Amino acid sequence: MSNYKQPDFWSIKAQKEGYPARSVYKLQEIDKKFGLIPAYPDQINADFRVLDLGAAPGSWTLYVLRKFSGRGFLAACDLSPLSRNPDSGLFDGQNFFFKQADIFAVEVRAELAALGPFSLILSDAAPATSGGRLTDTARQAELAEAVFLYAHAALKRGGSVCVKIFQGTDTADLIKKTRPLFNTQKTFKPKACRASSFETYLVGLGKR
Ligand SMILES: C[S@@+](CC[C@H](N)C(=O)[O-])C[C@H]1O[C@@H](n2cnc3c(N)ncnc32)[C@H](O)[C@@H]1O
Repeated sequence: MSNYKQPDFWSIKAQKEGYPARSVYKLQEIDKKFGLIPAYPDQINADFRVLDLGAAPGSWTLYVLRKFSGRGFLAACDLSPLSRNPDSGLFDGQNFFFKQADIFAVEVRAELAALGPFSLILSDAAPATSGGRLTDTARQAELAEAVFLYAHAALKRGGSVCVKIFQGTDTADLIKKTRPLFNTQKTFKPKACRASSFETYLVGLGKR
């Protein structure tokens, strides 16, 4: 059994590189594989708008803002506040908006959708785990379903989605249901996911 308290390779690397969580390396690997965010800042214009759902403590947020180098626009949302520690002022920039709220709330969806349309919607949102696989998978699927409501409301044509899911029946249904929305749809488990975890990411590219 793995020990979640013990800092591992990825947690130590995150600390050294000024990220509040090891999860940044999951996004980095997904981004490298699927090219979610243009590689160079001069390829990013003001129209490149990203939504980061379930963003706290903020390592995905920081990854996107660092890659933006002052360009683009990022909106992020979480029930919890972001960790201000390593942000070096990036969270105060004009190209960033944070909402502390529940992504299930209809008025929150309307507020965030109004900041779009988005080229990319990211969601690493995860419920507090109960330890019961069936319950956790069902809750994760509800969150992922909510993310697709954002995609319907505010994802640009040609845009992409990357959303955390847990492997299970509810998820299989979601994958099937959302497949027609994209030119390409894949599931991918980055190396930084803990081996014991049944999380994976659903990546939809090129919204139709
Ligand atoms: C694994 S953490 C995200 C880590 C983040 N991507 C990072 O790199 O720092 C999952 C987050 O989902 C958030 N979350 C869970 N349910 C939510 C909801 N209904 N609305 C907003 N945030 C939610 C939790 O508060 C938690 O901060």
